[in-house]
Amino acid sequence: MNKVTEINSREIRKAVFPVAGLGTRFLPATKAQPKEMLPIVDKPLIQYAVEEAYAAGIRHMIFVTGRNKRAIEDHFDTAYELEHELEAGHKDELLALVRSMTPSDMDCSYVRQPRSLGLGHAVLCAQPLVGDEPFAVLLADDLMCGPDGGKPVLTQMVDVFRRIPTSLIAVQEVPADHVRRYGIVAGEKAGDRITRVNQMVEKPNAQDAPSRMGVAGRYILTPGVFEHIRNNPRGAGGEIQLTDGIAKLMATEGVHAYEYEGKRYDCGSKQGFLEATVELALRHHEVGPGFQQYLKAFAR
Ligand code: UTP
Repeated sequence: MNKVTEINSREIRKAVFPVAGLGTRFLPATKAQPKEMLPIVDKPLIQYAVEEAYAAGIRHMIFVTGRNKRAIEDHFDTAYELEHELEAGHKDELLALVRSMTPSDMDCSYVRQPRSLGLGHAVLCAQPLVGDEPFAVLLADDLMCGPDGGKPVLTQMVDVFRRIPTSLIAVQEVPADHVRRYGIVAGEKAGDRITRVNQMVEKPNAQDAPSRMGVAGRYILTPGVFEHIRNNPRGAGGEIQLTDGIAKLMATEGVHAYEYEGKRYDCGSKQGFLEATVELALRHHEVGPGFQQYLKAFAR
């Protein structure tokens, strides 16, 4: 039987957040705190990603953590003392804000990746919690903004998965001199914004790249990927690569790439982090107008 027909459902109920990386590009800020807790304006990166998953209808959030990541667990836990203080001080808006972070229908689970062996290995660590169903993977250091007034990126992908229930990779066209930084996919056009993938390589040289479609940090994966990751030798950089596991899936199941609508900020790099900070600050309901004035005066 074709593997695709064995998939349990077309609903995506679980999201995996690999947050066990070392964040070396942000040292010394990440020496004692997770990169995913760095804030863009007033919200940590991981919260943007969790909100995106929740908006896509996902209610079970699975974090693959490592050393120094306790702040993430605390962030999504109830903060009794803080809530008590805010309640006593009648700070109702702040209280509602703190409580809204962990809606009562949202579950959080945590699993440890004992060593940073690569993104593929981190995803594999989540297998016992994911089980035998399709799931989403969100890399919080890729901050994704849907188009103005449109659907968030993961919601767009969940919609596509309902129609085409195969593994789905978010992609965007990247400049030729940037392909070295990305997983690159190529294949045959299979619909509006959709490509059936037949090639996938991790961080190729510009001259070897089969296309300029670069992978962004949003995936919907079928559970078949776990076996492929497990059986794969270490890939580029000596790491167990998620890209290699997905590339193997192409032989047994279909894999599609989806050109999302919206914008990605690579907040794993300082440049992307600063761009996100400026652009989201300009749109922020509280500080936006003042910040805009400041920038205008600064540019003069
Ligand atoms: P990155 O390579 O961007 O993150 O991995 P990093 O290793 O933390 O960052 P640098 O390069 O040292 O600055 C993408 C995502 O995969 C997770 C990271 O936490 C990040 O969210 N990851 C990476 C893991 O969970 N485990 C790993 O072994 C590697």
